Amino acid sequence: MKMILDCDPGHDDAIAMMLAFASPELEVLGVTVSYGNVGLENTLRNALKIRELCGSDVPVFAGVPQPLVSTRISAEFVHGRSGLDGPVLPEPIRGAESTRAIDFIIDSILAHPREITLCPIGPMTNLAMAMRLEPKIVPLIKQIVLMGGSTGLGNWSPAAEFNILCDPHAAKILFESGVPITMFGLNVTHQALALPQHIAAIRGNGNKTSVVAAELLEFFKLSYQKRYGYAGPALHDPCVIAYLLKPDLFKLEKLNVVVDDSSGASFGRTVVDVYHVLDKPANANVALEVDADGFFALIAERLATLP
Ligand code: RIB
Ligand code: CA
Repeated sequence: MKMILDCDPGHDDAIAMMLAFASPELEVLGVTVSYGNVGLENTLRNALKIRELCGSDVPVFAGVPQPLVSTRISAEFVHGRSGLDGPVLPEPIRGAESTRAIDFIIDSILAHPREITLCPIGPMTNLAMAMRLEPKIVPLIKQIVLMGGSTGLGNWSPAAEFNILCDPHAAKILFESGVPITMFGLNVTHQALALPQHIAAIRGNGNKTSVVAAELLEFFKLSYQKRYGYAGPALHDPCVIAYLLKPDLFKLEKLNVVVDDSSGASFGRTVVDVYHVLDKPANANVALEVDADGFFALIAERLATLP
């Protein structure tokens, strides 16, 4: 499966990258990086560090540094000032490609029509910009599998999840594009909390990447305990990759999803018609449940194969 991972590392993005790099079923054509958890300079550096840790030669591309319209927000107090606080990773030797992320996305879709799965796990500005810059690619995108939104409450405002709230206008472009979408929102990702036994199993692999992953999760856990009082950090972004690898780990339902871009308390909310009260067509396959034990077993199993 050809795919492009669009991310804002970020602790959970880092685990998602590791899982993707460790899975031969996935042909990762490139990693495009967005601002998000922290500014683009740091998310890009973090993506390069994780690529090197995993021994991957997948090209990395710098994306757009700001939302389309909104003022940029960020999540340093969840991910630390670097965006990947916890373990100290060496500065990357290899840099990003000179091609801009949106040009890489456009060129890749045109070169592989109807073959590429786009996986945004941060703000969706890069993908939205690519769609606007070259509308010809929209019908040629095989599918979008994204982490963002929620069928319920938000985590960054009472109504909005962080990735969507970073750039609701971009998210709206994706959800209204007609491209097949599979959505992993907080309603399901908060069922995937990395509990102590899960972190211990990953650390127990003993290889460097697994040990770094465990240390990242230990830092991420502190943030989740402080902010939400959860027993473990939610592994939001790896849900996207796990779905590509083992879709049966999830229960999904085709539903209508609208991104609220009106000003006010619900700005950035994904309004999901879970009870089908409207006769509007479903525009997303929405994840509702996850087999958490199976999910973490997959992560531990695959990370063990990395350096
Ligand atoms: O709300 C969770 C999402 O916001 C995840 O993608 C996390 O990495 C942050 O980007
Ligand atoms: Ca992310």
